[in-house]
Amino acid sequence: MTNVVITGTGLYTPEHAIDNASLVAAFNAWVDQENARNADAIERGERKPLTYSSSEFIEKASGIKSRYVLNADGILDPTRMRPKLPQRANDEPSLQCGMALSAAREALDNAQVEAGDIELVIVACSNLERAYPAVAVELQQALGAGGYGFDMNVACSSATFAIETAANAIAAGSVKRALVVNPEICSAHLNFTDRDSHFIFGDACTAIVLEHAACATASEAYEILGTRLATVYSNAIRNNAGFLNRVTDSDPLAMDKLFVQEGRRVFREVCPMVASLIAQHLASLELQGSDLKRLWLHQANRHMNDLIARKVLGYDPSEVQAPIILDRYANTSSAGSIIAFHLHRESFEAGDLGVICSFGAGYSAGSVVVRRR
Ligand SMILES: CC(C)(COP(=O)(O)OP(=O)(O)OC[C@H]1O[C@@H](n2cnc3c(N)ncnc32)[C@H](O)[C@@H]1OP(=O)(O)O)[C@@H](O)C(=O)NCCC(=O)NCCS
Repeated sequence: MTNVVITGTGLYTPEHAIDNASLVAAFNAWVDQENARNADAIERGERKPLTYSSSEFIEKASGIKSRYVLNADGILDPTRMRPKLPQRANDEPSLQCGMALSAAREALDNAQVEAGDIELVIVACSNLERAYPAVAVELQQALGAGGYGFDMNVACSSATFAIETAANAIAAGSVKRALVVNPEICSAHLNFTDRDSHFIFGDACTAIVLEHAACATASEAYEILGTRLATVYSNAIRNNAGFLNRVTDSDPLAMDKLFVQEGRRVFREVCPMVASLIAQHLASLELQGSDLKRLWLHQANRHMNDLIARKVLGYDPSEVQAPIILDRYANTSSAGSIIAFHLHRESFEAGDLGVICSFGAGYSAGSVVVRRR
């Protein structure tokens, strides 16, 4: 028991959706254009022609059917192949702050908490739009929250790592209420010209309000029974974008400055890591998989979730027991498990137990065991 409860969640979903057919049509048009541009080199055998992507492959290999993005036109333009977002002036709200405000307001409403009563704001996500000042401090001011804020990045595991950080601050008595926000603009780090990964990500933002149990007034609250985090170093998911790019004279637009992964290896190595983290975490709380009513897992690949859920629960779960949202949202990095938690708490009653679990680059994985109050 931590005496910390989750009392509200919020979700910002961008208005533009791209289904697999439209994404693949743009990719294949780009392939035709590149092959035409390199026709002579291909003819001379100096270069291999690029090959088409396929909607059938994407859905079968990942379970993804569609994704939401901040800007679709730039992604679907075969002469551009990346989103086109407006540059904001320093005195305008930043993009991530705008997404965060929307999700945070919904979470605060659900928690029946005034922004002014929040004493800690953590913006936790895979990619931050600037080095400083922290987006969390900008959000703190935009909301009218008190206390302090900071940004943190543990890639796809950012939300669960931030939940533990916030829960610890509440349990230690440093603050009474905290807000965790995950503004993920994954379309900006995705290489839409890479056949192996162009379909993987979408954009979204989630928010979570955490409170000391004694302060919480919301009718729906989830006690955090415990949190457990794990990391193991791996280069299988990597992005070399960073402030040293300029001084190392590396090309800032090179493809290694975007998301790169060895998907099959990640699948093979991360599934056992996550299943054993959850099992050990449950055992430490004197619980087992069969005690759980729901698993809100990170949303990267449907087959990964099926495998992990089967190992943890001991049987093949239904979509109610292990909800899938990646079919509509794709991988939204740290937001994924929180979107599942936000959208799928139906028929979850007092005393019911569930696990929120995220995993990804690092490798990293985080487990949060909750019980409805
Ligand atoms: C990315 C992922 C969906 C790929 O699925 P996979 O079954 O491993 O597919 P592979 O990359 O092994 O490719 C299988 C075949 O499909 C082909 N293929 C790859 N992308 C394709 C595409 N877009 N369209 C058509 N075919 C494609 C490959 O060329 C390969 O063909 P071959 O068998 O003739 O060599 C899957 O590995 C995955 O989701 N892994 C986990 C990733 C993850 O969780 N990452 C965390 C990110 S935060």
